Amino acid sequence: MIELQGKRILIVDDSPTNATALLLMLQQAGFSVVVANNGESALQKVREITPSLILLDVMLPEMDGFEICLRLKEMEETQDIPVIFMTALSRIEDKVKGLSLGAVDYVTKPLQKEEVIARVNVHLKLSNLNKQLEAQSRELKDALTQLQESQLQLIQNEKMSTLGQLVAGVAHEINNPVGAITANSVYASTYFNDLVEHLRLYQRKATDEEIKIHAEEIELDFLVEDFGNILTTMQTSAIRIKDISESFRVFSRNDTEDKVAFDIHEGIESTLLIIKHRLKANDKNLEIEVIKNYAKLPIIQCFPGPLNQVLMNLLVNAVDALRDCYQKYTNNSKKPQMQIKTALNPEKTHVVIQIRDNAMGIPKEIQSKIFGYAFTTKPVGKGTGLGLAIARQIIIEKHGGSLEVNSTPGEGAEFIINLPL
Ligand SMILES: Nc1ncnc2c1ncn2[C@@H]1O[C@H](COP(=O)(O)OP(=O)(O)OP(=O)(O)O)[C@@H](O)[C@H]1O
Ligand SMILES: [Mg+2]
Repeated sequence: MIELQGKRILIVDDSPTNATALLLMLQQAGFSVVVANNGESALQKVREITPSLILLDVMLPEMDGFEICLRLKEMEETQDIPVIFMTALSRIEDKVKGLSLGAVDYVTKPLQKEEVIARVNVHLKLSNLNKQLEAQSRELKDALTQLQESQLQLIQNEKMSTLGQLVAGVAHEINNPVGAITANSVYASTYFNDLVEHLRLYQRKATDEEIKIHAEEIELDFLVEDFGNILTTMQTSAIRIKDISESFRVFSRNDTEDKVAFDIHEGIESTLLIIKHRLKANDKNLEIEVIKNYAKLPIIQCFPGPLNQVLMNLLVNAVDALRDCYQKYTNNSKKPQMQIKTALNPEKTHVVIQIRDNAMGIPKEIQSKIFGYAFTTKPVGKGTGLGLAIARQIIIEKHGGSLEVNSTPGEGAEFIINLPL
C-alpha cells in the first residue's frame, strides 16, 4: 500500500477564495498543503518543498499556468512532479494545451470536492508506482549488465580453458614425432658427412685400398641401409605431424568428417617407426624388445589420425614405464619387453588391440584415475597426464569403442582397445 496521507501538495491560484476552499478540502483529506498565488512564488515553493503534486490554475497574472508547467517540465528535478490543471469548463483548448505540455490531468471549475480528491489520489498513486517501476527497471538493467559481464567472463574463461587444453593436446601429440625427427637428424648429418668424405676419395682418385679402408671405417654398407631407414622415419614423423594437425582441426570442427578405411597394423607399424629411437639401447638403457602377434584383420572404418595418436600414447607410456623400471647396470633377470597383440573378438564384432609391457605396473588405487585429465605420476616437465585422457576420448567418444587397463603391480600393465567393426 502506498501511503498518501501527509503528502505535500502545492496549489497555485491567484484567487484567495478558490485557493482557500481548495486548501481546506485537501487538508481535510489529510494532505499537507502549500499555496502560491503567482508564477514566481510557485517556482520558488516547488524548489523549497518539492511537492508530490501540483494543482495549477491556468489563468494567472504575469506568468500563466502553461508557462509555469513548461518551466517545471524543463528542469530535471521537477519534471516528474505530476501537474493537474484547473480550468474553466468552457475552455476546451486549455485542457488540450495543458495535457500537451505534460500535465497529467485537469479538473474543471467550479471544483467538485470528491472529484478533486479522487484525481489527486489517483495521480499520486500513479506517480508513486512510476517511481517504483523506474527504480525496479534501473535495478533490472544493472543486474542485466552485471549478468552480461559475468557471462562474458565465463565464456572467456571457458574458451581459454578449451583453447589451453587443445594447445596442450597438440603439443603432447607432436612431441614424439618431433623427437624422432630431432634424434634421427643427428645420425643423418653424421652419415651425410661420412658419405661426402667417401665421395671425395673418389674425386681425388684415391687408391682402392684407401677407399676400402675408409668404407670399413664408416661401416659403409650399414650406413647406406640405415640412412634410408632414417630418412623414412623422418618422413613418417613429418607426415604424422601433418596428420595430427589435421586431426585437431577435425576435432575443433565438431567433426562432420566420415570414417575411412584403415589398416590397423599399418598404424601400429608407422607408430613403432616413430618411437624406434626410444627403443634402442644406449649408455643407460637396454634395448626394448617388441613382440608382435598380429591376427588377420579386416580393414576397419575409423579416424586414422586420432587412432594413431592413441597407439602412440599407449606405446610411449609403455616405453616410459620400461625405461623407469629397467636400468642397464641393475641386476634384473627380466628384459624390457613390449607385446602388441591384435585379434577379432569371438563375436567378430570388434577389433581388439592389446599393448602390454613388463614394467612396474600400476598400483590398484590409481588405476581408476589414470584416464583423468592431467593425471600423471611423472615428474613436472616430463608428463602432462594428457595421453590417456586423449586416448579415452578418441576411442570411446569418437569411435564408440572401449579402452581398459589390466595391471598386476610389479608385473606390468596391459591396455586393451576394443574398436567396433
Ligand atoms: N604402461 C604403463 N605402466 C605404468 N603406468 C602407466 C602406464 N601407462 C600409464 N601409466 C600411468 O598413467 C598415468 C597417466 O598416463 P598419461 O599417458 O595420461 O599421462 P603421462 O604419461 O603421465 O603424461 P604424458 O602422456 O603427457 O607424457 C602415468 O603418469 C602413469 O602413472
Ligand atoms: Mg602418456
